[in-house]
Amino acid sequence: MQSVFFITSSASATRRIGALFARALVSRMPFPRACVCGLEGNLGAGKTTFMQGVAQGLHINRRIISPTFMLIRTFPFYFKGHAGKLTHIDCWRIGSRDLLDLGFSDLKKDSNHIICLEWADRVKAIMPIASIRITFSHISKNKRKITFLFP
Ligand SMILES: Nc1ncnc2c1ncn2[C@@H]1O[C@H](COP(=O)(O)OP(=O)(O)OP(=O)(O)O)[C@@H](O)[C@H]1O
Ligand SMILES: [Mg+2]
Repeated sequence: MQSVFFITSSASATRRIGALFARALVSRMPFPRACVCGLEGNLGAGKTTFMQGVAQGLHINRRIISPTFMLIRTFPFYFKGHAGKLTHIDCWRIGSRDLLDLGFSDLKKDSNHIICLEWADRVKAIMPIASIRITFSHISKNKRKITFLFP
């Protein structure tokens, strides 16, 4: 497993990392199956902020909010000749069974889909082995460590 980490000193720096990451992913489309990214980290660690950057990087002009009360939101995108979909899921209040009921198995088959789950540690049991793990931790008020673990 390969890992790389970044330390950001502002929310906008975290958004920039999200945008760069998303664009790097798109350059590898179509994927063999959906590209699943599991975001982990405490309340306020920066998961949703990172997702705002992911959406901006793909030119998705929709407001990305914590999907706590929506559970799942899907946004189509078209970037550098690649048409795809970004799905943002929040697993804070749900477990593996609920995620399967939301159609996770079918979503995972779509090779033009990027699926990002906040609180992915809550649904570990059904995360694909090939998923990318992204962990967020507080260093200080405005500093966060973002670690990417690639399968
Ligand atoms: N370097 C940084 N990176 C990301 N966010 C930061 C940073 N510095 C300060 N912040 C602030 O920290 C908060 C991060 O909140 P965010 O909603 O992204 O966290 P979260 O991990 O999604 O939390 P939750 O689990 O509650 O959904 C925001 O208010 C953001 O402005
Ligand atoms: Mg959040």
